[in-house]
Amino acid sequence: MIIKFDYLVIGSGIAGLSFALKVADHGQVGILAKRSLTDTNTNLAQGGIAAVMGQDDLLEYHVQDTLASGGGLSRLETVKTVVEAGPKMIQELRAFGVPFTASVDHPDQPELGREGGHSHRRIIHSKDMTGQTVQKVLAEKILAHPNIKVFDHYLALDLLQEKDPQGQMRVTGAWVLNIAEGDVLAMTAKVTVLATGGSGKVYLYTTNPDGASGDGLAMGWRAGADVANLEFVQFHPTCLFHPQLHNFLISEAVRGEGARLINSEGVPIMRDHPQGDLACRDVVALAIDSEMKSSGADNVFLDITHRPPEFVRDRFPKIYSTCLSLGLDITRQPIPVVPAAHYQCGGLLVDLDGRTTRPGLYAIGEVAATGLHGANRLASNSLLEALVMADRASRAAQEEAKGIGYPRLTEPYSPWPGGRLGHAPAEAVLITQSWDEIRRFMWNYVGIVRSDQRLTMAAKRLELVKAEIDEFFRNFEVDADLVEVRNIAVVAELIIRSASTRQESRGLHFSLSWPQQDDLNFKRDTVLRNESPLLFPGLSA
Ligand code: SIN
Repeated sequence: MIIKFDYLVIGSGIAGLSFALKVADHGQVGILAKRSLTDTNTNLAQGGIAAVMGQDDLLEYHVQDTLASGGGLSRLETVKTVVEAGPKMIQELRAFGVPFTASVDHPDQPELGREGGHSHRRIIHSKDMTGQTVQKVLAEKILAHPNIKVFDHYLALDLLQEKDPQGQMRVTGAWVLNIAEGDVLAMTAKVTVLATGGSGKVYLYTTNPDGASGDGLAMGWRAGADVANLEFVQFHPTCLFHPQLHNFLISEAVRGEGARLINSEGVPIMRDHPQGDLACRDVVALAIDSEMKSSGADNVFLDITHRPPEFVRDRFPKIYSTCLSLGLDITRQPIPVVPAAHYQCGGLLVDLDGRTTRPGLYAIGEVAATGLHGANRLASNSLLEALVMADRASRAAQEEAKGIGYPRLTEPYSPWPGGRLGHAPAEAVLITQSWDEIRRFMWNYVGIVRSDQRLTMAAKRLELVKAEIDEFFRNFEVDADLVEVRNIAVVAELIIRSASTRQESRGLHFSLSWPQQDDLNFKRDTVLRNESPLLFPGLSA
């Protein structure tokens, strides 16, 4: 079956939903959600959205903080564009009805929180459930819009491409798996947008939801889009360490309200740093890693017990109640925490309107590399970036869609060439175990601290696992889980290759083999190009 749209949006977080709402008055929109519409990374975002709205704050300060965090690799034009659009994006969300927490002194203004690396209070939030609150409001609007059709539990497998009238290959939609029914369909569109989020599941410990398997990045790469800066994986310093709950974030906003990181003896870990517990995340994560390695401890602690219990309960209701349900009262006990993979700073290389290097294909949100984050993302800049880039891409995509006809793909068309979908045999369990293997060696060898030797070991292990996965795809029927495993392997390879290219330490990439920053040779993006993309020729009628 072929389903035709003007815009196909793959992913249903803040980037995909805001893009869809902005183009929906100008054409038919299809949104694909691999799980439910709200099972996204956005939904888990606690901290907030950085925007300059305080009396004592200036756009220049936010620009400077973002550049400082980016370790010399942020693109100035992108930083200025995103930061300047921040206040307007917040006003739009407020007009949509997003209930941001209000300031006690000025109830018509949002309360401004503080997070690491920010020189001023500028985190607009909805207590500690910002992402969830925004996602809910956007999802309600999406479901009510007559031009938007949501396909939840549908997995995009690969991008369709066909020749445009000038003979150039152009992305024209995607092969899609209806996960419940097991059938594959083609969804075609004038413009295709990847808003698939990040790839935290490539690491053993992550704050990301289970769906964060880098599908958009892998599909874009297979289709020939360039990728950039994938060595810069952000490890959030404070993920809850608890046997019953693995990926629960303890927001940086807790440190913004005075919490301190301590070791098991109660010694403050960040005592020697000028910004203390609010230093940038790369610095804090590295300090925790070093503390855990030198003491042999499994975790460190985050202590907010000195703040009044009623303040903690009111400001952090989600964190408080989740921890309490596990028997941990954070108003009385320090919280056991560890660093965990949190955010992919690199991604598909895009311009300032979200266009990738493949015609017809846009990428917005975490899957894209806009140049905002550089070598390290400043806290709460990602929801902001997603909003601003969705807005810009929506305008560019509308213009582009005006000038072109619908893709020509007609039935009968070739089946998805990536594999045979169906019932994976019992042996598939070995391939899903490869996922654990990848996650484990990525954590051990391509984690917070790397070295040439560790990267080489990871590359060798990955080569073996990839060969097994490819062999399996050639010989057996596969299902959605296996498609995710194969995507994870692609992402792991791109991270290892990017990290091996950067022979220095900068931002989130710290190498024991190259401990110094080397501006002369490496003050530049790491761009990888796929020399043999899958162009799927012969699809057009
Ligand atoms: C947090 O609440 O600490 C996460 C915010 C972010 O990652 O930007």
